[in-house]
Amino acid sequence: MKLLQATNISHKFDYPLFEGVSLSLHSKDSVAVVGVSGSGKSTLLHILSTLLKPQKGKVELFGYDVYYNDKDKLPSIRRYDVGIVFQSHYLFKGFSAKENIQVAALLSKQEIDPKLIEAFGIERVIDKKVTELSGGEQQRVSIARVLTKKPKLLFADEPTGNLDKKTANEVMDVVFDYLSLGNALFLVTHDLELAKRCERVYALEERKLKLLKRGS
Ligand SMILES: Nc1ncnc2c1ncn2[C@@H]1O[C@H](COP(=O)(O)OP(=O)(O)OP(=O)(O)O)[C@@H](O)[C@H]1O
Ligand SMILES: [Mg+2]
Repeated sequence: MKLLQATNISHKFDYPLFEGVSLSLHSKDSVAVVGVSGSGKSTLLHILSTLLKPQKGKVELFGYDVYYNDKDKLPSIRRYDVGIVFQSHYLFKGFSAKENIQVAALLSKQEIDPKLIEAFGIERVIDKKVTELSGGEQQRVSIARVLTKKPKLLFADEPTGNLDKKTANEVMDVVFDYLSLGNALFLVTHDLELAKRCERVYALEERKLKLLKRGS
């Protein structure tokens, strides 16, 4: 089943980031995008994940044209079907790790999965305030928070940037397991080894997505 189809996306700020970019994601699919800093990876992730309307082109999620004809579907798609791990976490700072995860569970009408908390090794810090957590702990809480929503489409922007290799692999094992339920992943990373765990790897360069690798 096709979960995402982006067609002929173009976007520029002070300079063009990409032109005529197309991409699709099916159930159980995973795509990684690598590229130099400033090439537009996060911007592309924001466009594909309902947060930024592209200057040109169409984004269809679950068959819905989310920026134009089916705009009315956006609130529900954002709340239930799309999960985003941001490059800068965006955890609620005054709250504990647990409260952050509880908010996501509440909003998406899901239950907190204790196995997820355990798999991410955050039980020990679950009652601490976000400001009392290390960068890597914050990163793991933010991924646990997003997975708690059980989104069909998971977008992750440099999700393991603050983690050592072993912890990064453990966290990503959970994420890849999650895809086997029929969900899909769009990953942005500077870590080529991690990127290669995805079905397809693209480099964002010269304003295009260039396929580096297909099949895992
Ligand atoms: N809202 C904005 N307004 C103006 N320029 C922006 C905006 N967002 C991003 N940019 C610019 O667009 C370019 C691409 O930014 P983006 O964050 O997509 O890059 P990136 O590939 O994710 O980089 P990094 O690897 O450093 O995270 C940058 O030059 C950035 O300054
Ligand atoms: Mg970025």
